[in-house]
Amino acid sequence: MNDANFPPISRRVQAIAVSATKAMAQEAARIGGCVSLGQGVPSFATQPAVVDEVIRTLRNHPASGKYTLQTGLPELRRRIARALREERGVEIDPESEICLTVGAMEGLLATLLTLVDQGDEVILPSPTYASYIEQIHLAGGVPVYAPLTADWGLDLEAVRRAVTPKTRALMLCNPGNPTGNVFTNAEVLALCDLAMERNFVVVVDETYDYLVYDGRTPLSPLALPQCRNHVVCVSSLSKKYALTGWRIGWVTAAQGLMAQIMKVHDAATICAPTPSQHAALAALDADPAWLAECRRQLRRRRELCCRRLDDLRDFFSYVDPRGAFYVMARYLFSDAPSHQVATQLLHGAGVIAIPGGCYGLGGEGHLRLSFGGEEAEINEAFDRIAGWLQAGKKR
Ligand SMILES: Cc1ncc(COP(=O)(O)O)c(C=O)c1O
Repeated sequence: MNDANFPPISRRVQAIAVSATKAMAQEAARIGGCVSLGQGVPSFATQPAVVDEVIRTLRNHPASGKYTLQTGLPELRRRIARALREERGVEIDPESEICLTVGAMEGLLATLLTLVDQGDEVILPSPTYASYIEQIHLAGGVPVYAPLTADWGLDLEAVRRAVTPKTRALMLCNPGNPTGNVFTNAEVLALCDLAMERNFVVVVDETYDYLVYDGRTPLSPLALPQCRNHVVCVSSLSKKYALTGWRIGWVTAAQGLMAQIMKVHDAATICAPTPSQHAALAALDADPAWLAECRRQLRRRRELCCRRLDDLRDFFSYVDPRGAFYVMARYLFSDAPSHQVATQLLHGAGVIAIPGGCYGLGGEGHLRLSFGGEEAEINEAFDRIAGWLQAGKKR
């Protein structure tokens, strides 16, 4: 960026990079013919009933092509409040404690921009979702890593040690991307107690709360009245209802915090896309059998992925994913950094996997594998990986 003919770029933006997930996908597109265990998108298409309902709404209601209130359609806020009450035991005021956002991503960024000043610190129990790291930098903050335990549980002492007077937030992905872990209620409670004691905010990303394989939905700390001023929950319909491209998510927080986050949301986007808000309403009211079938298929894909990894036990070890659709596979066949191994796998086997190093401290030495794809793709990817590893043994 020292070219005199090039305009100066902000330090904030110079500090960030395009995520490895997208970079791997771009490189794979250049190579051609690759199969993916990379990007975190389930293979399902948006439900036809949702598409039909959005088309009908756009045809019959001219306002559905216009802005909504900044916080979103009142009926959608009320519908989400109902779902939160029924599914998570969380009581929120749909008038003042929720805002629809452009995916969870906007909600997360708006939250960080609200909480973090230049040089402030944000704790990341890690490995963690890679985009948090870039968003913290974008807000001028400093990510502080608190490594998870070997089986991806919370190391509360590591978190305690990471807290300083500059700590403004801790970001928790529960269930977790990239580890597939699910933090226990006791772990979530302990973090909230610490947040209240040291006056920072726990930002919980609940994007995958619908997908817990033992059926035990994790505690949403907004359900605890005593924590409300120290918790922001962010969620999304992207993965749950195959709406990734519609860009619809939300933030829930106590009224005082929400009012501040709203200022960022208003300045950045005005409102979440109105047709997508109608899609969200339709998805929430659609036949629950659709979601049950997605869950069933993802459970099968998880079993398949684990079985295929077990067949490669000389080459990989892993912790059983308990939620979401990812597994962090530790590779035993190389000492090279994960970026190098992922690149070798891409060029040598034509398989996309995401280098674990991009998920912060504790991620190195792993590849993140997604089992959101169809079974045929998962099998093809593992066939290729197995062939590539065997060929490497003979070389
Ligand atoms: C943990 C996590 N949070 C947020 C997102 C982005 O969600 P959205 O599409 O709602 O912006 C993703 C997408 O992969 C994710 O894995």
